[in-house]
Parts: sequence; structure tokens; C-alpha cells
Amino acid sequence: MKQEKLIKLAFKAAENAYCQYSNYQVGACCLCKDGSYFLGANIENASYGATICAERNAVFAAYSNGYRKKDIEALCIVTYGKRIGSPCGICRQVLAELINQDTPIILANKEEVLITNISELLPMQFSKEDLD
Ligand code: THU
Repeated sequence: MKQEKLIKLAFKAAENAYCQYSNYQVGACCLCKDGSYFLGANIENASYGATICAERNAVFAAYSNGYRKKDIEALCIVTYGKRIGSPCGICRQVLAELINQDTPIILANKEEVLITNISELLPMQFSKEDLD
């Protein structure tokens, strides 16, 4: 799938954001290698800590439908903000476990696009290996 299409889908997801507390819409699209994709939006809660970010919702949806890290081709995260949105710390920890280290993470707003990956976003990761 072309990058532009992925970004468009992520913006479609952002329309579904439930974000009356922050008014900050985030959308994500988790693209799988077989062409299927899963959308996610940020879903907030009056108990703020119960909020779930868009990218976690998208990746959890892929996993919930049987896909695993080997199946994930790219993850796109978009916002309408002036600055490109960068995944929060909790999302980085989750992505470090659920997608491959070099899987493209496409960050975009309406003006620009930045492509990164989780090894860049979260160096010196705490992982399952640390528990051995
Ligand atoms: N948010 C995301 O959905 N993804 C991020 O990477 C950063 C933050 C959401 C959480 C909350 O609903 C709103 O943005 C403001 O923090």
C-alpha cells in the first residue's frame, strides 16, 4: 500500500477519536503484510489514566485479529497538530514488544511526514529478556 493511502486511512481513524478532554485527535493505521489493516483512534476517559492511544488501539486490533509482529508491515500515526505527533512513552514500550525493531513507523500531520522505527524511538529497551 502506498504511503499516501496509509496516511489517509490514519486520518480517517482520527475522525473517530473520542477526545473531549484533550481535543487532540490522533489516528493510526496498522498495515499487515497481507494487505489487511487495522485502524485505531485515541479513546479518552474521565479517569484520564484509562485513556488508550491511537497507535496502541491499532496494533491491539491487529493482534486481536490474529496478526503478530512478523505480519506487520508498517504503522502510521497522524495528528492535526502543528507538530508531528510522537508516540508517548507507554506506546513506545508496547510497540517495542509488538512490532519489529525496523518496522517503519510513519508519523505525519497535514504538512509533513517523518519515517522512523521503534529502535530509534526507544533505545535501551526493557524487554522480556530482562526478566530471564
Ligand atoms: N495520544 C495518542 O493517541 N497517541 C500518542 O502517541 C500521543 C498521545 C493521545 C492520548 C490522549 O487522548 C491525547 O492524545 C492527548 O494526550
